[in-house]
Amino acid sequence: MAATPVGQHAHWSSRFAFILAAVGSAVGLGNLWRFPFMTGQNGGSAFVLIYIGCVILFAIPVLMAEIAIGRHAQQSAISSTRKMAQEAGKSAKWAIVGWVCTAGGFLILTTYSVIAGMVMAYSASGFLGGFSEPGGATMFYGDNGAKLIWHAVFMIITVMIVARGLKGGIEQVATFLMPVFFIVLIGLTIYSLASGNAAEAIAYLFTPDFSAVTGNTFVAALGQAFFSVSVASAIMITYGSYLSKDTNIGSSSVLIASADTMVALVAGLMIFPIVFMVGMDPAAGMGLIFTALPAVFADMPAGNIIGGAFFALAFIAAITSSISLLEGTVAFIEEHSDFSRPTAAVLLGFFAFMIGAGAVYSDAFAGEFVDWMSGSFLLPLGGLLVAVFAGWVIPKSLMRQELSHASNGLFGFFHFCVKFVVPPAIGIILLLGLDAKFNGGAIGAMVGLG
Ligand code: PHE
Repeated sequence: MAATPVGQHAHWSSRFAFILAAVGSAVGLGNLWRFPFMTGQNGGSAFVLIYIGCVILFAIPVLMAEIAIGRHAQQSAISSTRKMAQEAGKSAKWAIVGWVCTAGGFLILTTYSVIAGMVMAYSASGFLGGFSEPGGATMFYGDNGAKLIWHAVFMIITVMIVARGLKGGIEQVATFLMPVFFIVLIGLTIYSLASGNAAEAIAYLFTPDFSAVTGNTFVAALGQAFFSVSVASAIMITYGSYLSKDTNIGSSSVLIASADTMVALVAGLMIFPIVFMVGMDPAAGMGLIFTALPAVFADMPAGNIIGGAFFALAFIAAITSSISLLEGTVAFIEEHSDFSRPTAAVLLGFFAFMIGAGAVYSDAFAGEFVDWMSGSFLLPLGGLLVAVFAGWVIPKSLMRQELSHASNGLFGFFHFCVKFVVPPAIGIILLLGLDAKFNGGAIGAMVGLG
């Protein structure tokens, strides 16, 4: 299975299969783990509102652009952007758009698998009765050796699914697991709202309070929107390349992003009642779900089972995302080398595992740097490039042709956003992010966002 000639690669069996796989990619640890702690660290409801604004103005237009680019060129992200640029009579160097996105996606996978491994270990603890024992939540996650093993197990599962290909692997897993995910999510949320501190959680998430907004809030919300909707990371271009010409990209994009946002909000409604019930600080950071929740499960009736189920839910969410993260790079290697898909999947999975393993041994690296690099730098940069590409490099008529099912209104909104809204806004947000990271936020303070 050497280089895949254009037009001959696999396609989704149906629009429904594509939607489930894309929602599966979007809904992940970003919703269940990252969204709650980001909300907690960035002042609650104000962050939620800015986040929703970012999804509408930035993530949806970029998502539409990516799926359209992929479907038009029918290749991996790097080859698709190169091909489309050439078709438009522009430099092949525009493949840089695909390169930045592919690098961002691959980098996310490296530490994503570490966190997903932790989720698996916690799920096992729950089902085996660990949450009711003192310190039992981490009974399988004690030392770095254990962390590496779980990280390896998660990566191996990811590789095995991707190696089986689009229909036999990714599609099958998504169509089976996503319905299970939604049922468990709803069940757990009802339980949490009924038994936790629902009133405080709802007030925290939905009463607008802009006093805590800084430049960083925007950086965080934008990075989170891109991360959660799976844009700017090569995945949606790749998934778009498996799409048939008769699918409505506009409405599919709106559906994917809405489903993802709903799940994030519902996850907030599942997690914060419990956080407030035990009086935990919502700004506890990355460890929020790993410390707050087990503490509660310890005292709850059937807490072990509920806790095991919660982390199993997070595992389902994670696996349908990690396969997309690996697929983005595998599609490129498969296209450009003599490696078969399984070989490409194994090699890239191993490589990602090694970088993730490095992160296990250096908390600052894992927690801060890789997350910052992907969430606050590569994803915004990738999104900026995709928008410039779709708004300025590719002629409007070509984008319109690929988005032919979209209404004039939606297409107009899309094109205005990728042309005039996303590039300057993300440019500023990127600058504020770099300023906050390397310059102590001096510029942000100057413009009143200190
Ligand atoms: N969207 C996924 C999540 O929320 C993560 C992801 C990011 C997947 C980028 C693919 C691409 O967990």
